[in-house]
Amino acid sequence: MELETLKDLYIHELKDLYSAEKQIIKALPKMVKAAKNAQLAAGFKMHLEQTKVQAERLEKLLASHGESTRGPKCQGMEGVLKEGDEMLEEDATDEVRDAGLIAAAQRVEHYEMAGYGCARTYAVELGDKAGAQVLATTLREESETDKKLTKIAKSVVNLKAKKAVAPKEDSPVEEVGKAIKKVVKKITG
Ligand SMILES: [Fe+2]
Repeated sequence: MELETLKDLYIHELKDLYSAEKQIIKALPKMVKAAKNAQLAAGFKMHLEQTKVQAERLEKLLASHGESTRGPKCQGMEGVLKEGDEMLEEDATDEVRDAGLIAAAQRVEHYEMAGYGCARTYAVELGDKAGAQVLATTLREESETDKKLTKIAKSVVNLKAKKAVAPKEDSPVEEVGKAIKKVVKKITG
């Protein structure tokens, strides 16, 4: 049996988080490139650097328990990132895609927060004070990133997405508006 004790589960969670962070490090450059809003692109870039440090922390923490980072791929994060990847492929206006990228990134942050929250609790319960501290630091960073994304969405990106107009097709409302203008022009000469 591989998972006999809470300590086994703790190590299992740390390896899972490490796999998640490594996948995020691979995915973030694509999101930096895709983001049209400068503030959002800069936010993703900053989080990429932060994520590299978070992965290193896990590496050191696992090493302090005599464990390597090797473990199964975090399938949850794989799925969440795949959805984000699909957003990159969507036929969308720049403004709406940016809003979609934020939604995808916030799913990533919340998934991580759930994992780090559990791991930190295990660390506390197992008396791994240093581990608990390191995990709390990362947890705080993920939460701050999530809040920053909400701020960018609410203050700029969602507002722009709301005003975004599809380049070719007119909405039914716009078509009616154009038809009315035509009639009015005919009547008034
Ligand atoms: Fe992270």
